[in-house]
Amino acid sequence: MLGLIFTTLVEMVEEKFSPEMADEIITEANFPHGGAYTAVGYYDFDEIVTMVTLLSQKTNIPPEELIRAFGTYLFEGFTETHAHLIDGKQSLFSVLVSLDNDIHQQVLKLYNEASLPSFRVLDQTENVLRLEYTSERHLEPLAVGLIEGAARFFGHDNLGIQQEKVSDNTTIFIVTI
Ligand code: HEM
Repeated sequence: MLGLIFTTLVEMVEEKFSPEMADEIITEANFPHGGAYTAVGYYDFDEIVTMVTLLSQKTNIPPEELIRAFGTYLFEGFTETHAHLIDGKQSLFSVLVSLDNDIHQQVLKLYNEASLPSFRVLDQTENVLRLEYTSERHLEPLAVGLIEGAARFFGHDNLGIQQEKVSDNTTIFIVTI
């Protein structure tokens, strides 16, 4: 997983909890690299699971909730660090329909070893979009948080997200605005 994801998670923990909490987690996780993440490096996916598990134990907040909040935080970060990928987009749905063919394609050009999910548009009306998420990393809560972050960015207050599990690696998101 791309280092940027880890550096952003550490930043969120520092900001929303405390710098001490971030230090504690990194120390207890006892990673070989000592937690010195660089944004353009790549690290084991398991490390994010370890950090979220530790944070959940210390805060008594369920991991899913932490990952979802992180998704929203991450999207806010992307609007600054990767503004050019969102600049041309006029709406939440235009971001979501362009993930596979545009946004994440460009991410892959920037970071060749990024491990990205697939988002297939099943159907779309003015207010409802059905999006099929496939990933072996099972980051549904991250996707929900990212969608919520994007919805906030485009000024939606009445967002709804329903989930239907299709198979082990696939979930359909029904996004309503
Ligand atoms: C400018 C917008 C975006 C950028 C720059 C971006 C970039 C990235 C990057 C760098 C990763 C990590 C790849 C890795 O760790 O190797 C990632 C993963 C991911 N992205 Fe995006 N993304 C954007 C928007 C979105 C949005 C709106 C969604 C909402 C559905 C989304 C869903 C995900 C998910 C769920 C993952 C985790 C990997 C997985 O599930 O397998 N992304 N994205």
